[in-house]
Amino acid sequence: MSRMLLAATFFGIAGYVAWFVYGLLFPGPPPQLDPNEWWGPNETRGRQDTSIRPFQVKFSDEMIKDLRARLKNYRSAPPPLEGVAFEYGFNTKQLESWVQYWAEEYPFSEREKYLNQFPQYKTNIQGLDIHFIRVKPNVPAGVTTVPLLLMHGWPGSVREFYEAIPLLTRQNPGYDFAFEVIVPSLPGYGFSDAAVRPGLGAAQTGVIFKNLMNRLGFKKFYIQGGDWGSGIAAIMATMFQEEILGHHNNMPFVQNGRTMFRTVIGAFIPSLIVESHLADRLYPLSKTFSFLMEEFGYFHLQATKPDTVGVGLTDSPTGLLAYILEKFSTWTRTEHRNRPDGGLSVYSKVQLIDNLMVYWSTNSITTSLRFYAESMSRKNRALYYDKYPSDVPVWFLQAKTELFYQSPTILKVKYSNIQGTTVLDEGGHFLAFELPKVFADDVFKAVKAFRSYHESRPKTEL
Ligand SMILES: *[C@@H]1O[C@H](CO)[C@@H](O)[C@H](O)[C@H]1NC(C)=O
Repeated sequence: MSRMLLAATFFGIAGYVAWFVYGLLFPGPPPQLDPNEWWGPNETRGRQDTSIRPFQVKFSDEMIKDLRARLKNYRSAPPPLEGVAFEYGFNTKQLESWVQYWAEEYPFSEREKYLNQFPQYKTNIQGLDIHFIRVKPNVPAGVTTVPLLLMHGWPGSVREFYEAIPLLTRQNPGYDFAFEVIVPSLPGYGFSDAAVRPGLGAAQTGVIFKNLMNRLGFKKFYIQGGDWGSGIAAIMATMFQEEILGHHNNMPFVQNGRTMFRTVIGAFIPSLIVESHLADRLYPLSKTFSFLMEEFGYFHLQATKPDTVGVGLTDSPTGLLAYILEKFSTWTRTEHRNRPDGGLSVYSKVQLIDNLMVYWSTNSITTSLRFYAESMSRKNRALYYDKYPSDVPVWFLQAKTELFYQSPTILKVKYSNIQGTTVLDEGGHFLAFELPKVFADDVFKAVKAFRSYHESRPKTEL
């Protein structure tokens, strides 16, 4: 009897393991989401206006007056501890000069013009007015126009792409194509509406953006993303494998049982997993884990209590500035935590305040934070798109001080069609913003490879 029990237990466990491994190896088709899910108020259901309306950023006098008053009313935070730079967060000694710059020197009307330099539109998708920039290339006849969707993340905005857009929409020597770029604000970010009910995370945003591209007449298109944009791009390249012609990603990261397994194997025998000159971007794992502990408190907070965090940041532009610019400091170069000025001079003041204005003028910090809670909800985690393969041609651009690094050996667990990888010895998390030329050149290089790939396969149309 006990032997039978033992045998039953054994076969039970073996069956479970086999089922588990089978599920990892052959996950089946990825879940599809409702393409018409309604995120706007119920009263507007079924009354969707599908027109595409021109849009311009407007900094109203009233908003500017209120903002300046709040900045002037700033109550000084206690000074930083002796010898401390940005290790405890934004250095409060630095705040005064930023606040003063924003209130007294930031040229609001000139920047409003700057932000309006590209054609912008809004159109209603699934109940939400989605804002986007759309720039057609300025190129001679004979140069092919290729549609490219560019996706930002948090705490960025469409502003991150302003320096790169002109580089992508002009002819680049050596290329017979140029991009028509479509740059949407994520739902709940900047000039795009936020959902009125729970559930709109990265996967649902992928559906909205596909609908946006379809509305603009693009059945098939290329996609690019960093930060949340990279997560949305990865999901789109999994859900819509027929529609996505190529996928350029500057923060590739795949988290599933098989990538974890390979990562752990590499901790013992790095040469199996990562080229030796890149091993220190991933190992020792203890370094990666301490980095996560030191820098990812914001993630847990925003994934759990976004509305509470949002109260202070919505009320205080100084608080918003400290919260967001701390990320631009540390995520650009980890070691800038040790610089008294946070190394923020990598960017110009005006660039960084432009991005803050996108959040401040639209009162969208709380809704942007909710994106974490929605994407990390139990329901959305269960969709688990990282588990499913993507055969879409893909290209990785990996900056030196990006928050995570995974080698091609790890990434190919999900991506069966890696067309190339560019590993940079410079640059950080906000790559398009920091190194627009490097970024744009790499996108050209990648899409050239994607196009050759499609040309070599007569069945697919371009
Ligand atoms: C809107 O409609 C949904 C689905 O029918 C329902 O669950 C929700 O309670 C409604 N919301 C309001 C505010 O009436």
